[in-house]
Amino acid sequence: MEARTVKPPQARANASAFAAGEGEDMSEGEAPPIWTRKHLLGLEDLSREEIIAILDTAESFAEVSTRSRKKVPALQGRIVFNLFFENSTRTRTSFSLAAKRLSADVQDFAAGGSSLSKGETFIDTARNIEAMGADVMVVRHATPGAPHLLSQHVDASIINAGDGAHEHPTQALLDLLTIRRKKGRIEGLTVGLVGDISHSRVARSNIWGLTKLGARVILCGPPTLVPRGFERLGCEVAYHLDEVLPHCDVVNVLRIQFERQAKGLFPSVSEYSRFYGMTQGRIEKAKPGVLLLAPGPINRGVELTPEVADGPNSAILDQVTNGLAVRMAVLYLVSGKKATL
Ligand code: CP
Repeated sequence: MEARTVKPPQARANASAFAAGEGEDMSEGEAPPIWTRKHLLGLEDLSREEIIAILDTAESFAEVSTRSRKKVPALQGRIVFNLFFENSTRTRTSFSLAAKRLSADVQDFAAGGSSLSKGETFIDTARNIEAMGADVMVVRHATPGAPHLLSQHVDASIINAGDGAHEHPTQALLDLLTIRRKKGRIEGLTVGLVGDISHSRVARSNIWGLTKLGARVILCGPPTLVPRGFERLGCEVAYHLDEVLPHCDVVNVLRIQFERQAKGLFPSVSEYSRFYGMTQGRIEKAKPGVLLLAPGPINRGVELTPEVADGPNSAILDQVTNGLAVRMAVLYLVSGKKATL
């Protein structure tokens, strides 16, 4: 399948045309293409311009969700499969809804209840799904690199919906869109990524995306949960949240990944909360207007208190809303010209 070609400054204009129901392709114009990729496997591979192209395209699709008829014909006739080998609430439903809003046919595949239990391999499973006509596969897997492996064995476009502790590109993109919408910019902001950095694919994708867009990134957590050497990725590392908070315009509170952790990385959950939990007291000591993000699911009372999660600084549900527009943009961009016919 051909990737969609997006050229500046047509990216947003053409997505707007689709959003308006006019299905012109995005390949006209003199400028060199910004978006030519067939897959979205991570933000490490993307340029600043490609990330901005996705965010700008998402802005156009966000408008679709405000209409009474929340649907455009951009992916009519295309088939999107959600291949989830790990649990999900937000990502799976958001991709399903995004594909439906683009008029694609959508099919969910869940590993539980599938023939994987009879010994069928991951690649054979994907090849059988491709034989049913899948144009795009949205893949979540506990093994880092699983979506990259599939991209070498099937012809469909692959979107990484989270691979182990490696990357979760659409989560970082929706975080970026939320910051840009709430703060008006990303460049020059200081963003704290707080908590379990070691096991977090969200942290890795955020580091790539934020640094490419010119933010200052500070990783903060217990030494056992912040990998050594991450400064090489262009971030700072700190271990005391109370010292970091007054500098942050945005704080992204990461979930403790109990399911990926070895035991004993911190003494107790209550001790973790005491040193790293976002409480109302900490919000009051932070920069005025600090924006609070969390990828979800949240462990209420562990990484943040309910009053903070539901309080005026929190954009947690805005992130979910913005995720729909981001996933529409990504599905649209990785889909080929055939999608527009
Ligand atoms: N943030 C996130 O990826 O949530 P889910 O695991 O529910 O998809």
